[in-house]
Amino acid sequence: MRERGRKGMNWKHRHVLDLDKWERDDIQHIMDQSRSMDELLDRPIKKVPALRGKLVVNLFFEASTRTRVSFELAEKFLSADVVNWSASGSSTSKGETLRDTAWTLESMGADAVVIRHGAVGSADYLARKLKKSVVFNGGDGGHAHPTQALLDVYTAWKKFGALDGAKVAIIGDVLHSRVARSGIIAFSKMGARVSLSGPATLMPKAVDTLGAVYEEDPVMAVNDADIIYLLRIQRERQDEGLFPSLDEYHQLFGADKSLLEHARPDAMVMHPGPINRGVEISSEVADGEQSMILGQVRSGVAVRMALLYVCLGGAKQ
Ligand code: CP
Repeated sequence: MRERGRKGMNWKHRHVLDLDKWERDDIQHIMDQSRSMDELLDRPIKKVPALRGKLVVNLFFEASTRTRVSFELAEKFLSADVVNWSASGSSTSKGETLRDTAWTLESMGADAVVIRHGAVGSADYLARKLKKSVVFNGGDGGHAHPTQALLDVYTAWKKFGALDGAKVAIIGDVLHSRVARSGIIAFSKMGARVSLSGPATLMPKAVDTLGAVYEEDPVMAVNDADIIYLLRIQRERQDEGLFPSLDEYHQLFGADKSLLEHARPDAMVMHPGPINRGVEISSEVADGEQSMILGQVRSGVAVRMALLYVCLGGAKQ
């Protein structure tokens, strides 16, 4: 599209919906752009005029702290005009459809829409219905959370550099996790090996088609891992008891100090948040020296700035 990025590369993704069609170079370009944005975050005055005159609407049908606030900060640091829309108090409660809501906002001049929605495919649907606005998927049901995956890869890339051959152990409720699905795609495209662990009832059927291996025993999964990535149990997306109790889950699959001993000594502990202390992660590990959980939050601002900048043509301003 508009922006020229890495040498000889044209940016070709109008929207950010999923990462399955992205190439490694696309991800690497966002890493490079994110590093520049990250440097801006250290400045006393973080605001730059790159998106002055652009209007971004944040359309959140589901709860969010990190994604919503970091997108809003990213938009404001790039000087875009920002409208925060939430389902409660909107005309959605009077029966207005997603399509009509989006058309209404586009008619008011939205250059971009960030959407989080409980329905799989909602971001793709919006991208097909909107003529001018760029769509950023902030999480659609259990399907994809591409900006989370990019910020996770960025966090790891910042520490380790190239991720070729690195081992990523993702532990928990993979079945219901859009974060895991997008993370497997992104880490694999950057050359990392992904092992999944957790109760068999919380695993997708064909793990190998995702480009990952399943090791039920978390000790095996974290063996020699560079990154240990814990997932939240997504009770809101489960309609039946898929494991006996939270206590038992913690005993078998929760990350504590003893599990970390099987990973590399400099392994990073990651979690997309929000965390359930004492369930998928102990407080000792969440707050420990190896935890990058708050680093991921900071990366979220830089990576979303990079995505907004690249997709909204900031380089041309
Ligand atoms: N990781 C993540 O998507 O967090 P929020 O639900 O708080 O946005």
